[in-house]
Amino acid sequence: MSKVVAVAHPNIAFIKYWGNQDDALRLPSNGSISMNLDGLHSQTAVEFSAGLAGDELQLDGGVATPEQTQRVSAFLDLVREMSGVTSAARVESQNNFPSGAGIASSSSAFAALALAASAAAGLELDEAALSRLARRGSGSASRSVPGGYAEWRSGDDAGSFAHSIAAAEHWELADCVAIISEEHKATGSTAGHALAGTSPLQAARLAGAPGRLDACRAAIERRDFATLAEVAELDCHLMHAVMMTSQPGLHYWLPASLEVMAAVRGWRAAGMAAFYTLDAGPNVHVLCPESAAAEVAAGLAELPGVLRVLRAAPGGPARLLSDP
Ligand code: DP6
Repeated sequence: MSKVVAVAHPNIAFIKYWGNQDDALRLPSNGSISMNLDGLHSQTAVEFSAGLAGDELQLDGGVATPEQTQRVSAFLDLVREMSGVTSAARVESQNNFPSGAGIASSSSAFAALALAASAAAGLELDEAALSRLARRGSGSASRSVPGGYAEWRSGDDAGSFAHSIAAAEHWELADCVAIISEEHKATGSTAGHALAGTSPLQAARLAGAPGRLDACRAAIERRDFATLAEVAELDCHLMHAVMMTSQPGLHYWLPASLEVMAAVRGWRAAGMAAFYTLDAGPNVHVLCPESAAAEVAAGLAELPGVLRVLRAAPGGPARLLSDP
């Protein structure tokens, strides 16, 4: 069987996924909406080979940890089940951005793996089936399969996948990511999702999620930046409030994260179109119209504690680089 290579972009969520109805199936407690990030990507090669004793995983040129290999192997089992392929696989994956610090590298990694592994196993999955498969590897990966702005619906196994609500070209936003730490986070998302239900605030967060999804979807459709800014910052604060009040509490913000957040609120009060959102890490994603990105990136680079600034535009769907 031949080697297949796929590429996918990570995504940044405006309405966050935090907590599952079913951890094993990664069925989320609420729907979420995100934008793919062009310029950042995971590139993953998969080859099933009868000669291998077990699945092998290389990450960024080095041998993966047993935990990482186990997670990929469990995912490959799903592909083997669907395709009837029985052999082990060699997987090589590379990110062109720092992993583990709030830029969801698992989103692009499992979207690229889902596409490369299913194609290498001879499966021809449509976008919904591919998104559903990617979801099983990492929830947010479901949203890196379709292009542009994507919504992932909660639901049962068959109904929980992401689709594009607007193409990348629909709205020229920029994500200026203020990098504050490149260290691997202490508690990963998977462990975090399992704690969400221990926060007394999770029920309130979930009760308001349908309304925030509607507002976010409409803001994207109308290119209404002010509404998007308001609903995305609120949703980010709600998720972090749940994280902080879980037992044990999860605290991802660093002092420099708060400095950046305060600066962005100040810029917006002074009339600049910009808002922030943070995932499970200290880095701050600052969203603005592409026309303001140079000014926002320069402003961020001057703030104390900001190591560097990455810039990304709306990105396309996961895609194959070679045919099986
Ligand atoms: C905070 O998709 O990384 O980035 O399914 O366990 O891999 P797993 O979780 P993951 O969770 C993402 C959480 C988030 C918010 C979001 O991207 O919606």
